[in-house]
Amino acid sequence: MKVSVIGLGYVGLVTSACLAEWGHDVLGADNNRRRLDALLRGAAPFHEPGLDAMVADNLERRRLRFTASATQAARDGDAVIVAVGTHDGNGGWQTLTIQSCLADIVPEMPDDAPLIIRSTMPPDFIRRMALIARAIRSEAGRKPVPVMLNPEFTREGSAIRDFMHPERVVFGSVDDPDGHGLRTLQELYANVTAPMLSMSAMDAAFAKLGANLFLATKISFANELAALCDAYGAHVDNVVQAMGHDPRIGPTFLRAGVGFGGSCLPHQVSMTVRDADRDGIDSPLLDAVNRINHRQRLDLVQHLARMVGQLEGQRVALLGLTFKPHTDDLRDAPSLTVAAELLAAGATVVAYDPMPSARARAIELVPDLVVADDVYAALANASAAALVTEWPEFLQIDWSRAAEAVRRRIIFDGRNALDPSQLRAAGFTYSAFGRMVTGQVAAMEPVQMAMPSGREGRGAGRRTSSRRRRALARVDPESAA
Ligand code: UDX
Repeated sequence: MKVSVIGLGYVGLVTSACLAEWGHDVLGADNNRRRLDALLRGAAPFHEPGLDAMVADNLERRRLRFTASATQAARDGDAVIVAVGTHDGNGGWQTLTIQSCLADIVPEMPDDAPLIIRSTMPPDFIRRMALIARAIRSEAGRKPVPVMLNPEFTREGSAIRDFMHPERVVFGSVDDPDGHGLRTLQELYANVTAPMLSMSAMDAAFAKLGANLFLATKISFANELAALCDAYGAHVDNVVQAMGHDPRIGPTFLRAGVGFGGSCLPHQVSMTVRDADRDGIDSPLLDAVNRINHRQRLDLVQHLARMVGQLEGQRVALLGLTFKPHTDDLRDAPSLTVAAELLAAGATVVAYDPMPSARARAIELVPDLVVADDVYAALANASAAALVTEWPEFLQIDWSRAAEAVRRRIIFDGRNALDPSQLRAAGFTYSAFGRMVTGQVAAMEPVQMAMPSGREGRGAGRRTSSRRRRALARVDPESAA
């Protein structure tokens, strides 16, 4: 099938390359010249495992082509997929781009080519979508086209596998009176053996939103559980492992740590809370998911402060900048908040990430951040280190060598990914979220440890100490009083 894809960002480019890989004849359009130039050389403009090779191979086979002209692409397709950005970069929606994209391409589309929207859109925009498309077509003197939603469920770092071997594919009908839009999508995904679910446009949008909100909730739940484990002296890894055997719960997305980042989960949680608040809908659970996620970032800094004594004048090594491994994406990455908080507390922050592009971007985003070209250089003379992204490279660190490089052997594992026994053997004081370390200390020294010195006014410190007081009230009511 001849497919045109408008917008070659993360979603659009992965969609284009994978559809071409399946044998469709794909024409991708983007108005960013630098991005197009890179693509024409067969290079993806961001890091995604396997994508460069897939783009180059399909360019060579001429199943994948690129153009700067969205209108040319719209005229050319048996189906036209829209994958332009809808985030304002600040936890809100931005629909100007998609509106102007639709105004450009919809009048040009062939009469029987379905318009397939893959961008995530706000509910009120979805509600108006059929009217918008029909109005544009009628103004151009053209027949209406079928309009469908096809939300994406791909994760960065495994986007190609997720696209080619999905667990489910969801089709939402915006305006599809004779079913031609649905049949076209079924043909497009003919290679997929997973369930293909068709439903209303709003159901499809909420099927995606619901999945992401649930994943975010699982992570914040694990982080709340980790705080309880710390306070009472349990080990969150063991707790979650045991819980995960229950098929009603499952083992995934329950890893405690510095919290979720990226372009999807933080954005969808905060926008849902914001929209619900505007529309007078109570969303206390999602509000808490959001607050817990942000608190984890501040708590990591508090834990470091407690371990080091005070942050002012100290050199802290940050291991990892990207929001998760196997991507170079820094959008809403916990590392950025952590670095900014450490710098605000007077520390010097030296970060290392295996992705050179992420290192270069991080110093643009966080003034005063220093980046190093290898992990041992970042650790050199550090008074403390924090693991923020669990890149495989960090799991291979020679901790005896690191112990010689640092000034003080202190590490906070913000992803519960390192082996504490290895670190302790190399002489490090190790701490993490919910791995019992702070709980043990709290039980022994409840009063002195209740607040980090000099940081009593900070929200995270207050919450940590009141949590500990409540916990102590159960096991030792007198000392908690
Ligand atoms: C997410 C959804 O998973 C995907 O289905 C959707 O299409 C886009 O958004 P992505 O943003 O690529 O994908 O990342 P994901 O793998 O979901 O991880 C999100 C964040 O959660 C990362 O920062 C990760 O480190 C964190 N995380 C994940 C945890 O903190 N704990 C976990 O147990 C799992």
